Amino acid sequence: MAAAALIGLGAAIPLDRLAQGPAIPSRIPATFPRTWAYGTASHATFAPHAMVASNNRLAAEVGAEIMEQGGNAIDAAVATGFALAVTFPEAGNLGGGGYMVIRMADGRVAALDYRETAPLAATRDMYVGANGKLTGESVIGPRASGVPGAVAGMLEAHRRYGVLPVAKVLAPAIRLASEGFIVDSTFFRSLSGDKYRIEGFAGKSVFFPDGVPPQIGSRLRQPQLARTIGLISDSGAVVFYRGSIADSIVAEMRRDGGLITKADLGRYRPVWREPIRSSYRGYSLITMPPSSSGGITVTETLNILEAYGPAAPFGTAERVHAVASASQRAFVDRNSKLGDPAFVGVPLSTLTSKSYARSVAKSISRDHADPTTRVASRMREGNETTHWSVVDPSGNAVATTSTLNDLYGSGVYVSGGGFFLNDEMDDFTTQPGTPNMFGLIQGEANSIAPGKRMLSAISPTIVLDPGGSLLLVTGARGGPRIISATSQIILNVIDHRMSLADALSAPRLHHQALPDSIRLEAGGFDPAVIARLRAMGHYVYELNSGIAAAASVIRVKGGYEGMDDPRSHGGAVGF
Ligand code: DON
Repeated sequence: MAAAALIGLGAAIPLDRLAQGPAIPSRIPATFPRTWAYGTASHATFAPHAMVASNNRLAAEVGAEIMEQGGNAIDAAVATGFALAVTFPEAGNLGGGGYMVIRMADGRVAALDYRETAPLAATRDMYVGANGKLTGESVIGPRASGVPGAVAGMLEAHRRYGVLPVAKVLAPAIRLASEGFIVDSTFFRSLSGDKYRIEGFAGKSVFFPDGVPPQIGSRLRQPQLARTIGLISDSGAVVFYRGSIADSIVAEMRRDGGLITKADLGRYRPVWREPIRSSYRGYSLITMPPSSSGGITVTETLNILEAYGPAAPFGTAERVHAVASASQRAFVDRNSKLGDPAFVGVPLSTLTSKSYARSVAKSISRDHADPTTRVASRMREGNETTHWSVVDPSGNAVATTSTLNDLYGSGVYVSGGGFFLNDEMDDFTTQPGTPNMFGLIQGEANSIAPGKRMLSAISPTIVLDPGGSLLLVTGARGGPRIISATSQIILNVIDHRMSLADALSAPRLHHQALPDSIRLEAGGFDPAVIARLRAMGHYVYELNSGIAAAASVIRVKGGYEGMDDPRSHGGAVGF
């Protein structure tokens, strides 16, 4: 490839040059193959002061409303989170958990781990049947649920950083639950697609009252959920973890053989953690540490790519090979070495170091693929979820992702409480060597133990420009593909100088080490590129489904652009 065709920003831009240069790098229009679904049809929303981007537009509106009332980005993120539990129950939740990365305009940073934990009665092999095979109980039904962290996490973020009273922050969610919202075709389709998961439990009467979802255009009211959020607003998290809602959760467990007890709920605590801070070609990254694997794996992937050399143009076989090979190696580490840091030693500083990345980058050939088995032996030596991004008028930023794991979680719906419980237990290594619902083959570090957090791929990330100013707030839903989408959006913005709309619309690839293959979004890559990748020895196949769905905010001249992923149906709302 001609050197002139390479787009690389090289090393950190010296400060004296920054002073003269523009704070926001200009963007270059991207070109995608004509066969690509999101070629030119995507648009970001511009607003001068503040922005919320979410997989659900009604919830984004709530966040913007709270900021217009004087709330900051944390108030808005929490308000959006509770609203998502109402208007986007496939993923928004009270019965799940998540992660949040915060950067205040004064430079303070924080990471909040509000991931679920395994119940105290959980055991390492609880999902392995007498025949030695997985029983399936980690994906549906009450035994699939970890102890929910969302309510404690949201309220803890608000307690430490919010400025509005909690009653004001939760009021829009209560209103949406009690007055209802209009069922659109997206929600109707989502419910229809997961009927089998919901109808076996108490949510049937809410979501399939006559055997079918509420009609498109009708108003869905959720009075039980309105009452639950009202109780939380009045009494705080204690009502959920020790009071009447805890009783409802435990009653639901008793009905169907689940493990979560009042003792589990009573001991649940979200954890403040030091965010991972790293850099990529002079830009700074602030991202989520374990118990999520997301921040480490995004950081490691980007560090390897930086060490590998200047970026080849977007969409070329050279670029796909580099990104996929870096990702493959980062996932080998992810799948074998990471777990809840309260239970296993996590080699965080090694895996995020530039020197380690340099040694890994040297192992990537320029023109041929390495099988994961060989990569893994060398390295030993040395759906459902939702993301939202918020920036407030002062420049405080929040990236947060919350999950039930599968759509509508375990399907179990807490009668009287009005919400679904997660099936997050499937994110553990339920059986070494056996793939989980995302095809991930994980190791002992992530095996089940009482009170342990299951490893996540959630990757909320905030990027600062080389001058240290906020540039990008991002993250995604989509299991391990979250890591790929988040990394590639950052690469698109930094290496390929794409606009936010192009960065989110660009075709994505995914390599998670095992299965040992590059998955490409169908229509997004030229057949000649695919042929060249195959000639390099990559096993390549095209996916008809999207690789994750992000919701991001970027700083632009005069304000912010926000956008939900074109693979999703939400929106961005600002003012
Ligand atoms: O925490 C994780 O990595 C998974 N439970 C996320 C699941 C997910 O993103 C499903 N969404 N599409």
